[in-house]
Amino acid sequence: MNFDLTEEHLMIRQSARDYARRELIQDVIERDDKGIYPEQHVKNLAELGFLGMMVDPKYDGSGMDTISYVLAMEELCKVDSSVGVIVTVNNSLVCWGLEKYGTEEQKDKYLKPLARGEITGAFLLSEPEAGSDATMQRTTAELKGDHYLVNGTKNWITNGSTAAVYLVMVQTDKEKGHRGINALIIERETQGVSTGPHENKMGMRSSDTVSVMFTDVKVPLENRIGEEGFGFKFAMKTLEGGRLGIAAQALGIASGAFELSLKYSKERKAFGTEIANHQVIAFKLADMAIRIEAARNLCLKTAWLHDQGKPIGTASAIAKVFASETAMWVTTEAVQIHGGYGYVKEYHVERLMRDAKLTEIYEGTSEIQRVVISRDLLKD
Ligand code: CAA
Repeated sequence: MNFDLTEEHLMIRQSARDYARRELIQDVIERDDKGIYPEQHVKNLAELGFLGMMVDPKYDGSGMDTISYVLAMEELCKVDSSVGVIVTVNNSLVCWGLEKYGTEEQKDKYLKPLARGEITGAFLLSEPEAGSDATMQRTTAELKGDHYLVNGTKNWITNGSTAAVYLVMVQTDKEKGHRGINALIIERETQGVSTGPHENKMGMRSSDTVSVMFTDVKVPLENRIGEEGFGFKFAMKTLEGGRLGIAAQALGIASGAFELSLKYSKERKAFGTEIANHQVIAFKLADMAIRIEAARNLCLKTAWLHDQGKPIGTASAIAKVFASETAMWVTTEAVQIHGGYGYVKEYHVERLMRDAKLTEIYEGTSEIQRVVISRDLLKD
């Protein structure tokens, strides 16, 4: 077993770290406060190759491995996980799925600009009544000769009002249940597509989250991904990779909060010495480091499995549960270590704590990950 990172891994990590520490940090509090979409940062990160990290260069991607992706996500999310989720949805849920299951024509038309980061994409599965229970899709797509006619509403869509390309799960044949679900590529500018107001979220406040409505939207047959009825499996396979992205995001939030806590506790004095010299604080720091190291190893192992072409369904669910629960625990302790300062925006840890909560919810709640893991354990 070799745990060494390559020169290339170290370079990519450094590049993400530099960008986060020099650029993202500058306006992160204001963007969070006012819910401002980080448009210029997304453009800059696209230029650095972070929007289509794992896409083959023949489709204009950066051709990096999954380990590089985890390393970069951790660094970006130490500072700004709203930017992180925009990047991870484009990489994992959109580019990844399109590259693996799309036709050459679809890749040429959609994957290339997505991988270059000229446009962004969104993944539309959740609905008002189909969140965890994803087979209950109510958005319909009626086949009308050479096109589908799509009607319905999708909820909680990251990149929903900014993405140019949507991957949308729709029900074509209700009688067939999940086998009647299709995945369609729909351009946001198509007639009949509209978006709702921005959700006023507790955390990840500068990422773009809206509902998307479809009213008699005509979608050409050639925009279906895979065979008729492949949509649910497409969503499940794609989410396996998405969950690793969120695990890496949670890891970044936790390690960002840890670094701030370490620094603060070496500076802040109480009872005649730096608070790090009090065992109650030193032990908290040790516990943070233990959990973060375990989360990092789970993320990197899952990335390695993916790079070896091995299945990651259970591994990514394990990584996501552990990393997101670590993020919640570490950020809560980080606020505690900072005391009153931890409760105000200038010290960053309260934002990290609010952001951490979402990693336990989206791309499958912690409960859903436990369903995935326990089913694998209990199967014959
Ligand atoms: N890979 C391939 N196929 C899979 C699969 C996988 N990982 N998981 C399930 N399937 C297949 C099953 O084999 C089955 O197919 P067959 O009947 O042909 O054998 C079919 O899919 C149905 O599977 P289940 O019976 O297991 O389905 P279920 O109703 O019990 O649900 C679930 C399974 C794991 C709970 C699933 O519904 C799920 O993952 N729910 C959570 C959805 C989710 O993560 N939503 C997040 C939204 S995306 C988001 O947040 C985007 C964003 O913007 C950030």
